[in-house]
Amino acid sequence: METLWFSPSPVPTLNLKHSLSTFQLITTSPKNNKPTRHPSTVVVVTATLTNPTVQFHKSTSTTLLSPPPPPPPPLTEVTADSLSYESGHLGAVPRKQATGAGDGVHNAMSYLTKILSAKVYDVAVESPLDYASKLSERLGVHFWLKREDLQPVFSFKLRGAYNMMAKLTTKELAKGVICSSAGNHAQGVALSAQRLGCHAVIAMPITTPEIKWKSVEKLGATVVLVGESYDEAQAYAKKRAEDEGRTFIAPFDHPEVIAGQGTIGMEIVRQLPAASLHAIFVPVGGGGLIAGIAAYVKRVRPEVKIIGVEPYDANAMALSLHHGKRVKLNRVGGFADGVAVKVVGEETFRLCNDLIDGVVLVDRDTICASIKDMFEENRSILEPAGALAIAGAEAYCKHYGLKGENIVAITSGANMNFDRLRLISQLADVGRRREAILVTCMPEKWGKFKKFYDLVSPLNITEFRYRKNVQKEEALILYSVGFHSTNQLKDMLERMASNQLQTLNLSNNDLVKDHLQFLVGGRSVVDNEILCRFIFPERPGALGKFLDTFSPRWNITLVHYRALGETHANVLVGLQVAASEMDEFKNLANSLGYEYAFETDNEALQILFC
Ligand SMILES: Cc1ncc(COP(=O)(O)O)c(C=O)c1O
Repeated sequence: METLWFSPSPVPTLNLKHSLSTFQLITTSPKNNKPTRHPSTVVVVTATLTNPTVQFHKSTSTTLLSPPPPPPPPLTEVTADSLSYESGHLGAVPRKQATGAGDGVHNAMSYLTKILSAKVYDVAVESPLDYASKLSERLGVHFWLKREDLQPVFSFKLRGAYNMMAKLTTKELAKGVICSSAGNHAQGVALSAQRLGCHAVIAMPITTPEIKWKSVEKLGATVVLVGESYDEAQAYAKKRAEDEGRTFIAPFDHPEVIAGQGTIGMEIVRQLPAASLHAIFVPVGGGGLIAGIAAYVKRVRPEVKIIGVEPYDANAMALSLHHGKRVKLNRVGGFADGVAVKVVGEETFRLCNDLIDGVVLVDRDTICASIKDMFEENRSILEPAGALAIAGAEAYCKHYGLKGENIVAITSGANMNFDRLRLISQLADVGRRREAILVTCMPEKWGKFKKFYDLVSPLNITEFRYRKNVQKEEALILYSVGFHSTNQLKDMLERMASNQLQTLNLSNNDLVKDHLQFLVGGRSVVDNEILCRFIFPERPGALGKFLDTFSPRWNITLVHYRALGETHANVLVGLQVAASEMDEFKNLANSLGYEYAFETDNEALQILFC
């Protein structure tokens, strides 16, 4: 995961071109665990494009000759930051809820029967509802954790997948199933197929970490690594489903999948019977989990609030509820990869619009803090999406000053690569407002260093970088301090100001946390230097493609690489590009196909490097 691929691809990949789209395709065989090229699969992809036309011309049926229904209008594209409100605030309240005009309870009726008859316990367990004593004490509420991270494949996803598959006919099971997923849904489908004795094909993007596709393969499924994004893997899976008569197992947008996830709501109501329950906090990706829980709970305990939680940069449900229709994110943050979805489901949106009470948004640091909370609570490690609901619940309690109420957060998954813990532990204390990242400019005079130290005390310095600037006769100190209350930090910043030591709090600046703190001291005078933050796919050859695009046309002056998600890395790059060459640069950067943003004017950069 943390590997920077400098060398050409060690794994042969095959670029397929046909009239619809381009795939990179590698299939893996359970026998030797090695990705191999499968040209035969190429034939399947191209052959399907001609079949429907042939059948159409042979038929004399008038129904076949009637024109196909027009395609649905494309969804409006929006940016994640077009909807932002204070963390903990209950926003994106559905309009029907707000006006009381929703028919949610009526909608939930048909789901109640589905949920009550859902078949999930052949494969899933009734997960415990654990009392979180430390969180409860700290927040002054009764904080319960619905432990879906304790399911056989460490997430709730097998409930929905199994429920849908268990309802297939013997003939359908014999034809096999297929799905596309880089994560928990893949494992849910693979395990369900193993239990039901049917064959499963799992299409995963080629950026999927080996640990993930191998664990799916161990469950007996055939893994196909295909396409650079989830969308491409999904297009492949849907096509192959049609070709081979396999059933496509949707990750969230199917009534049986929603009903399977809804059994979690049924269990919570049973496990916390008499007590008044203020709210259930649910992580939201495509919306299957929250739709299922809401469909059950709003029918039997309508007074209980069902609150979605999304990261600020993956807020497709909040935005859709806000606009009153499904919208598409132009770009989705991948840190909480389990919920990194650009478009929520049609059916899940309909249910959420009718039933849920709104969505709370949280940032990356807060999610990390909640992973640490869970570890301190019971020594379990959650994946970011799995800790999302704790983060939202805590932010909500603080925002509204909630006291004495029962609240439940769904801990939805624990499938995380060990490498990611480094970043998470680094950000957790900043997220919990127990650590701050500060920069102080200090005149280079004898005795100043000691004075600086005295002013920071009694706060604990947890990290320290000092660099003298000869030209300006001053030193720059980038450091982190630990504190117990925000007043302690405020007092310290005031002490600095009254002693003319200019100090800035950079705790909310992601560029500092991801890159600049590792580069401080590397200052040099470079003409025409621009800085861009690129998002590289985590795959062999990604850097090579980047270099081929820009070098030797422009001189590269700085590179800092940081793997942040499972499949992508943030790379800060400095290049010498004259103002007159900017249009050319932008054209080439756009043609590269990696997302990027200019950071040349970032405030922290001016302080640390200019
Ligand atoms: C750990 C985890 N939490 C939450 C979700 C979101 O579920 P949904 O897509 O049904 O909203 C997922 C989805 O895969 C997940 O893996």
